[in-house]
Amino acid sequence: MTTQGPIVIVLAAGEGTRMRSATPKVLHAIAGRTLIGHVLEAASAVDPSHVVVVIGHGRERVLEHLEEIAPWVDTVVQEEQRGTGHAVRIALAALASAHALGSAPIVVLSGDTPLLTGATVRELVDAHLRTGASATLLTAVLGDPTGYGRVVRAGNGSVESIVEHRDASEDVLTISEINAGMYAFDPARLTPALQRLTTANDQGEEYLTDVVGLLRAEGDPVAGLIVEDPHEILGVNDRVQLAGAAALMRDRINEGWMRAGVSMLDPTSTWIDVDVDLAPDVTILPQTSLLGPTSIATGARIGPGTTLTSCEVGEGATLIHTWAELAVIEAGASVGPFTYLRPGARLGPRSRAGAFVEMKNATLGEGAKVPHLSYVGDAEVGEGTNIGAATIFVNYDGQAKHRTVIGRHARIGSDTMLVAPVTVGDGAYTAAGSVITEDVPAGAMAVGRARQRNIPGWVQRKRPGSPSAQAADAQEQSPTSEESP
Ligand code: UD1
Ligand code: CA
Repeated sequence: MTTQGPIVIVLAAGEGTRMRSATPKVLHAIAGRTLIGHVLEAASAVDPSHVVVVIGHGRERVLEHLEEIAPWVDTVVQEEQRGTGHAVRIALAALASAHALGSAPIVVLSGDTPLLTGATVRELVDAHLRTGASATLLTAVLGDPTGYGRVVRAGNGSVESIVEHRDASEDVLTISEINAGMYAFDPARLTPALQRLTTANDQGEEYLTDVVGLLRAEGDPVAGLIVEDPHEILGVNDRVQLAGAAALMRDRINEGWMRAGVSMLDPTSTWIDVDVDLAPDVTILPQTSLLGPTSIATGARIGPGTTLTSCEVGEGATLIHTWAELAVIEAGASVGPFTYLRPGARLGPRSRAGAFVEMKNATLGEGAKVPHLSYVGDAEVGEGTNIGAATIFVNYDGQAKHRTVIGRHARIGSDTMLVAPVTVGDGAYTAAGSVITEDVPAGAMAVGRARQRNIPGWVQRKRPGSPSAQAADAQEQSPTSEESP
């Protein structure tokens, strides 16, 4: 037994040509985390002493990403992709020049297998230490093993070699147990074996898989651990596999939340990122995506048709057909349908932002309401205040943004333009259709619009014989008409 954690090497230098992407393959994301991010997360389950990522294609962007999500990892550049064995060899050489390798196992993973779980990495290391093998490989039994390296076992079940698909005989091709490309090695046995790898194969590469045969030739025991769920080892090579992996990840995440007490009417149309946090008794309706570090408190109802990115939703809040980012929706607030909450929107307890309302960098106090068709930008709306339909917070003068502050229990009439910077006092009213350019004192009624003027008979004079003129004549002649003279 060792006290030091394993060393983990992640292979991520390949090009990923089949993605047909300007983005390096391992930087494609599912469930809000890159492929390599998922692999590093799984690797963290064994408390590694060192993690080394082998990078090559798109190295600048991969490096930049790693510095952001996992600054503790070391990277080694593989200039030319001369095979998985070569990649591990240079990673080990870089490690050995910086640290004593010790006796803890060396775990090798691939950067493009996002469904691998920490539990499986732990099992791999545990099995390796338990059996005392020089190498332990993770394997899977597949209905269609095409393309994978096949695991050749002896009569007693011990692993003898791995044969790449393209180098395999007809006999070997019938083997359905495949090499997942994830291994644990004894460092004292791996290092010398890597020195002896040749490029005598169909691709002219140094195959890491040949280490198995080399170790067996020296009488070393090699073990194989069959993964319980073969989905875990699926590699992503193209966009079809990316979508397939995303769907499997979605199902796994959703199942976890449902078991934790979250209701989902349609788990297949519910997409939840790995960093989301949900309380028991949250209900999620169809076509809903919860992205980034979004958190939702108990009793909240989200959806249908709602996308929340990095939002915080309080107890019992409801959001219907809402698109929101970096917004806070406090307990009991109600949002939607068709509401757009932009960064800095903050809805107080039991407040409301209704249909066709857009909010940005704006706060609604407790119980404040913006029920319909309004834009609320750079504003503070006090508790119990009602904003009439089609009110616009005119926050931008073409050069700078300005703030509007509205007090408590104010009543903003429909179609008010609040030209910022402006302040409306507590309990004040504004008349419908007003353009408010000056501060309104507490308790005042502000009227900022032209007086109405009626020009009698204009339609009959200017539009004689038109349906409007006929309708007007008819009403004027009708005995019940209040307008008739
Ligand atoms: C490899 C295994 C195969 C196994 C399969 C599982 C070898 C020779 N074969 O095949 O037995 O069934 O994985 O998916 O190892 N990489 C580098 N540098 C290189 C070459 C590869 O970093 O020089 C990285 C790739 O980016 C990738 C991983 O290593 O992340 C695997 O390489 P890949 O070429 O995909 O190996 P396979 O042919 O799939
Ligand atoms: Ca591969």
